[in-house]
Amino acid sequence: MAPGAITLDERPTVPDHSAAVLREPRGALVVDRLPVPEPADDEVVVRVRAVAVNPVDWVIQGTGPVTYRWLRTPAVLGSDVAGEVVAVGPAVTRFRTGDRVVGLATGTDRGRDPLHEGAFQEHTALLERLTAAIPDDVSFDRAAVLPLGASTAACALFQPKHLGLPLPGAADASSDRSGVVVVWGGSTSVGMNAVQLARAAGYTVVSTASPRNADTVRSLGAEVVVDHGSPTAVDDLVAAVAGRPVVGAVAFGTTSTAACIAVLRRTGGTVLAMASTPVSLDRIAGRRRLFPGMLPVFTRIGLTTVALTLRARRAGIRAAFVWGSSLRDDDLGPELWGRVLPEGLADGSIRPMPEPLVVGHGLDAVQGAVDRQRAGVSARKVVVTL
Ligand SMILES: NC(=O)c1ccc[n+]([C@@H]2O[C@H](COP(=O)([O-])OP(=O)(O)OC[C@H]3O[C@@H](n4cnc5c(N)ncnc54)[C@H](OP(=O)(O)O)[C@@H]3O)[C@@H](O)[C@H]2O)c1
Repeated sequence: MAPGAITLDERPTVPDHSAAVLREPRGALVVDRLPVPEPADDEVVVRVRAVAVNPVDWVIQGTGPVTYRWLRTPAVLGSDVAGEVVAVGPAVTRFRTGDRVVGLATGTDRGRDPLHEGAFQEHTALLERLTAAIPDDVSFDRAAVLPLGASTAACALFQPKHLGLPLPGAADASSDRSGVVVVWGGSTSVGMNAVQLARAAGYTVVSTASPRNADTVRSLGAEVVVDHGSPTAVDDLVAAVAGRPVVGAVAFGTTSTAACIAVLRRTGGTVLAMASTPVSLDRIAGRRRLFPGMLPVFTRIGLTTVALTLRARRAGIRAAFVWGSSLRDDDLGPELWGRVLPEGLADGSIRPMPEPLVVGHGLDAVQGAVDRQRAGVSARKVVVTL
C-alpha cells in the first residue's frame, strides 16, 4: 500500500447520533441513527439538552398528508430547542462552542430540511438569527419553552402584515404607545409570550385565561384578565378596554377569532392577527385513519374561516393568519432573537413561559410528550430533557 494511503476501515465516517424520527406519514416517532448535522455558514449546531412540544407537532404527525403536504419522510419534527453549541458556521459572529443557547428550529417549513433542522434529536442545526444566549440562571428545560411561543407572538404583534407595533426598545421613542392590545388566550403558550412582549413594547394589555391562570397572566403584565370560558367574556373585555383606543387584537385558541372580531367591532379596533384554526385538529390527528373522518372537519374549518374573514371585512377589520416561523425571512427574526429575547432574559423583563412540564428524559420519551400535549395542557409547556 502506498505511504499515507488509508484503508477502508480508516476512512473518515460521518458521525451519527440518535433522533426521534417520523419514518412515514402518520407513523409513530421511532428512535433511529442519523448523521449529525453539519453547520451551514449562518448556523450553529447544538447538542440538544431540552426540547418542548407544540400543537403543531401532533398536527404534522397526525394530519401532515393534508396540512404539511410538502414534508417528506423520514423527518425529525419539533421547533423548540435548548442546548450547548458544539459547532459554528464560518459566518457566525454571536456564538462559540460551549455557549448555552435556545433557538427556533424551522425544519418542517416548506423548503427546509427536517433532518438537518428538527428539534427532536441529539444534535440539530439552528440559524444564528433565530438563536439567543441563555443566562446562567435559566435552565435548559425552562429555556426550551420559548422558541415557537415567543416567535409566533412576535409575528402577531410586530410584523407589518399584522399589528405592526414598534418593538420593545425600538429607537422611535416618538411613537404613541397609549393604545390597548387585546390578547385572547393569554394563558396559552403563545399568549403568555404575547402579553409579555406587548407590555415590553409599552402597550396596555387586556387578556383572557381560566380563573386558575388569571393571576399568572396578570403577573406577566396584563392589566385585566377575563375568563375566556364565561358567556360574558366579550362583554368583559370590552368593559376592560374602557373606551381607550385599541391598537389590535391577537387571537389564540379555537374560539378566539370570532370573539376578537366581536371585541374589535365594539371597541373600534381594526387589526386582528389570528393563529388558530376555528376547529381543533386534535381528534382527527389521533385517529388511526385520516380519511374519511377528516373531510367534515376540514370542510368546517374552511367554511368557518371564510365566514369569519367576511365578517371581519364587513366590520372594517384587517384580519390575517400568523405563521410563527415567518420571522426567519424578515428583519423581525434577528431583532427578536438577537436583541429583544437575550436582553429581556438577561434583565429578567422576559420570563420563559409557560412553566415547563418535564414528562421524561431521552428521545424515547418524545412520542409520549407529543401525545401528552395533544391531550391538553393548562398554562404548562410539555418538555423532554435529553
Ligand atoms: N399559526 C402559528 O404559527 C401558530 C404557532 C403556534 C401555535 N399556534 C396555535 O396557537 C394556539 C395556542 O398554541 P399554544 O401552543 O400556545 O397552546 P397551548 O399552550 O397548548 O394551549 C393550551 C391553553 O389553551 C387555553 N385555552 C383553553 N380554552 C381557551 C379558549 N376558549 N380561548 C383561549 N385559550 C383557551 C388554556 O388556558 P386555560 O387553561 O387558562 O383555560 C390552556 O392553557 C393553538 O391553536 C396553536 O395551534 C399557531
